[in-house]
Amino acid sequence: MSGELNSTHGPAARLRGWVSALWGLVFSLIPVLPATADPVFLAEPAPLLATVDTRSVTIAELGIAAAVETLASDGAYRQVAVTGWARPGAERVLFAWPGKQVIVARLPRAQTGRLVPVARETDPDTGTDWVEMRLEGWVAEAALRPSRTPIWEAAWALFATSCTACHERRVPENYTANQWRSYLKVMGPRTGLPEESQALILAFLQRHASDTIHIEEARP
Ligand code: HEC
Repeated sequence: MSGELNSTHGPAARLRGWVSALWGLVFSLIPVLPATADPVFLAEPAPLLATVDTRSVTIAELGIAAAVETLASDGAYRQVAVTGWARPGAERVLFAWPGKQVIVARLPRAQTGRLVPVARETDPDTGTDWVEMRLEGWVAEAALRPSRTPIWEAAWALFATSCTACHERRVPENYTANQWRSYLKVMGPRTGLPEESQALILAFLQRHASDTIHIEEARP
């Protein structure tokens, strides 16, 4: 019996041929899934952990509104990859774009060895080199949102009330992302809001600035 099943011809071999042709057809009908799922976003600053363990090492502190790509899920935690741009020799801070100080992640010095370079760019105006780095780790599900919309709604509510106590509401698009960073160093504390709320307003203004709003709007 087993001799017949293993033979390369005869009725059993023909049957195996049909079965494998049928499987080929079934697999060809399954739609091809995209290689990477949609990104998710940080609603609050959160640690990127090396493992899902209470004693885990913190690889980095992720910034508000940073986009991360999902690799795996473990209930309360999600394994993610994050990418950001750094100056060679200053890899402890990753920015969303070369030259724009929109912080995606901050790393302790001891963790920079985990960064994997994925792209390089030289700013044509300044001649400055930038390296795009990738980092993987685990982040609490509670800190993540499927889109930036709820994050921006919370940010707008704070901006529209706390930043209008002394003067008119400023227009985010009238300043660059780097101008917003320096203004918020002075204006943030004037609001009397907790640091995390100031950081939320900063993230909102920096990603709606004159030199970033069009990049953000072009997102799928
Ligand atoms: C306690 C009062 C106060 C609060 C609250 C405040 N500002 Fe200001 N802001 C000022 C004053 C006064 C100036 C004028 C320049 C100076 O004194 O620094 C100013 C100037 C500015 C400027 C300078 C450029 C311009 O258009 O004149 C910007 C931008 C700005 N504020 C944004 C903000 C934002 C964003 C917030 C909320 C995070 C905020 N401000 C909250 C008092 C305040």
